[in-house]
Amino acid sequence: MKKVLIDCDPGIDDALALALVAGSPSLDVVGITTVGGNVDLELTTANALALREFLGLGEVPVTPGSGGALLHRTVRAGHVHGATGLGDAVLPVPERGPSPGHAVDFIVEALRADPGEITLVAVGPLTNLALAVRKEPRVVEWARELVIMGGSYTRGNHSPAAEFNMLADPEAAAIVFGAGWTVRMLGLDVTLTAVATSDVLERMRPLGRLADRLLVPAARSYGVVTAEGGPAIHDACAVAYVLEPSLFTCVPAVVNVETAGAYTRGMTVTDFNLRDRRANALLATALDVKGFWELVLGAYEGLAARLG
Ligand code: RIB
Ligand code: CA
Repeated sequence: MKKVLIDCDPGIDDALALALVAGSPSLDVVGITTVGGNVDLELTTANALALREFLGLGEVPVTPGSGGALLHRTVRAGHVHGATGLGDAVLPVPERGPSPGHAVDFIVEALRADPGEITLVAVGPLTNLALAVRKEPRVVEWARELVIMGGSYTRGNHSPAAEFNMLADPEAAAIVFGAGWTVRMLGLDVTLTAVATSDVLERMRPLGRLADRLLVPAARSYGVVTAEGGPAIHDACAVAYVLEPSLFTCVPAVVNVETAGAYTRGMTVTDFNLRDRRANALLATALDVKGFWELVLGAYEGLAARLG
């Protein structure tokens, strides 16, 4: 079993990532924390609560965190994820609410209690993680690994230079990349190849209520369709990395986050030439796409059998 703590902003691809988590018995989810990102914190938290119950994640605590970026204006992606944040997916209203307290305290205390055992998986803006690092710098030592969906060494999406999670809070991203750990970075360079094509959707369709209520309506309503004719399910790549890192080719690099550039704010400026410096990031540069979908669809099939 591998212990994971998921910080997210559901979000259609966050939801598909949580479905991968729920369909992976080898993962022990110690908690879900939410952050404002794709949509406002109230909605990302409501979506996380609905997903927890719909996906059978039972007693996993859901703790809300930061609603906005550390310094600057709030960036949202409602045009991609829809007004609710889950596109056309409509889940049963959850019976249980969030845990008391703040996500930052949950993250710090979970890592303090179990040093070296918990993998942090961040698939939204990094505001909660940055505040956790500032509140208790030892989280960098206590985390088993930090895996993020974010950034890119080739191109942006929400701006020409910046990927959404980084652009949504560049100062937070700069703090996280400068904290002293080696960030496992699943950037657009690989996540844009994880496309739910029509063939993939056909393999999802027979998966009962998991497909009918979540997978298919969510994937079909994702507001950005790639050249391959489907949505890239970015966040699921971070979970896939935790499950099967061998699916990815990774290269060490030095990453700095631009916070000032008029056109480049939020850009993950990547130097693969270490020049005797210690790498602060391990960047995914390639993905075994066939193997990725075998993993994801296999997990969804197992989950669907449980959900009926
Ligand atoms: O750029 C893709 C990322 O931004 C994903 O995490 C998606 O959910 C959005 O938050
Ligand atoms: Ca996300």
